[in-house]
Amino acid sequence: MRKFETILVTGGAGFIGHNFIRHVLLETQFSGKIINLDKMTYAANPATVKEQKELFGERCEVVVGDICDEETVKACFEKFAPDCVVHFAAESHVDRSILGPGEFIRTNIIGTYNLLEATRFFKSSGKNIHFHHISTDEVFGSLGETGFFTEQTAYSPNSPYSASKASSDHLVRAYCHTYNLNTTVSNCSNNYGPYHFPEKMIPLMIHHCLEGKPLPVYGNGSQVRDWLYVSDHAEAIWKIILSGTVGETYNIGGENEWKNIDLVETICERVSLLAQISLDKLKSQITFVTDRPGHDQRYAIDCSKIKSELEWKPRHSFNEGLDKTIQWYLDNKSWASALSSSDYQNWLQKNYAARK
Ligand code: NAD
Ligand code: TYD
Repeated sequence: MRKFETILVTGGAGFIGHNFIRHVLLETQFSGKIINLDKMTYAANPATVKEQKELFGERCEVVVGDICDEETVKACFEKFAPDCVVHFAAESHVDRSILGPGEFIRTNIIGTYNLLEATRFFKSSGKNIHFHHISTDEVFGSLGETGFFTEQTAYSPNSPYSASKASSDHLVRAYCHTYNLNTTVSNCSNNYGPYHFPEKMIPLMIHHCLEGKPLPVYGNGSQVRDWLYVSDHAEAIWKIILSGTVGETYNIGGENEWKNIDLVETICERVSLLAQISLDKLKSQITFVTDRPGHDQRYAIDCSKIKSELEWKPRHSFNEGLDKTIQWYLDNKSWASALSSSDYQNWLQKNYAARK
C-alpha cells in the first residue's frame, strides 16, 4: 500500500474535490497535508473553502491558481513537494461545453498537460509522484438499451466536454507509457450529493423544486444515467491511489440506472415529503424543453474490476443518498445563495434560451 505525506488536489473547491478532501481528512488514516489548487471559477463556492479552513486548519491549504498557468503549477510543486497529485480540476458541464468549448480545451487539456509536465520534471530530479487522474464514463460515448462500459470499451466521446476529457486521459496514458510516470485513471458515472453546483440535473431539480421554478426535462426524458453517491466515489478514488496498479484504469459506477423523467418524478416525491410541499404542485413544475444537441442516450458502468481487485462497492442505496442530498440542500440554504451571482443567472438564461 502506498503512503503519502503531501497530496496536491486540483479542483478541491468543486463538488467531488471537496467531498474527496472531506473523505480523506475525516474518514481515513491519512495524517499528512492536502494542498488544494483551485482557480475558484463559477463552479467553486467560497463557502466551501471557508468550510475547509474551519474544519481542517493547516491540514488543508488552499492555493488560488490556474492549472493552465505553467508557472503557477511549477511554483506549487516546488513549494509543497507533493508525493501524490489527485487531479479533479476541470470544466465539467456538458451544456456549457456546447455553448462554448474554449475553456474546456484550455483547462481540461492544457491544464492536465501542465500538471503532467511538472510531475515529469520532478521525477527527473528524483521525486517520484503518484498521479491520479479523474475522468468520466462519458469518454466511452453512448450505449443502446443494453450493455455496459468496461475498461476495454473503445473511446467515442460525443460532446466537447467528453472529447476534452478523453484527450486528457490519453495524455495521462502517454506520459505513463513514455516517461514511466506512476499514473492511475478512474472513469466514473454521474455523481450526486452535497456541495453539487445546481446546474447539473439532481441539484438543479432539488433547487428548482424548493424555489417553485420549472423543472426542465430535456427532450422526452428517456435518457438514462447511472448515479453514484459522491462519498462512495471519494472512497473508490482513495482505494485506487493507495493500491491501484500503475498504468491501469478503473471504472466506477453506482449500479443505479435511472431514466431522467423517472428520476425527476422521484425527486418531486422525496422533496414533497422532506420539505412538506404539495406533490401535485411540484409535478406541475415539470416542463419538457428542447433537447440537448447530441444528447447521449444511456450511460452504464460495469465496475466489476474495482469491486474484485480493490474490494470497493457503492455503500449508499439510492433512496438513502437522495434523501441525504435533499436534506443537505434544505439545511444549507446559505450555501446556495451564491447562485444568485450574475454569472450563474446569465448562464441559466443563455442555456434555457437555447431550449425554447
Ligand atoms: P466542478 O465543476 O464542481 O468543480 C471543478 C473545480 O475545478 C472547481 O472548483 C473549479 O474552480 C476548478 N477549476 C476549473 N478550472 C480550473 C483551472 N483552470 N485551474 C484550477 N482549478 C480549476 O466539477 P466536479 O463535478 O467536482 O468534477 C470533478 C472532476 O470529476 C472533473 O474532472 C470531472 O470531469 C470529473 N467527473 C465528474 C462527474 C460528475 O458527475 N460531476 C462524473 C465523472 C467525472
Ligand atoms: P447532467 O447532470 O448535466 O450530467 P451529464 O450530462 O454529464 O450526464 O445531466 C444528466 C442528465 O439530465 C442528462 O441526460 C441531461 C439531463 N438534464 C435535464 O433533462 N435537464 C436539466 O436541466 C439538466 C441540467 C440535465
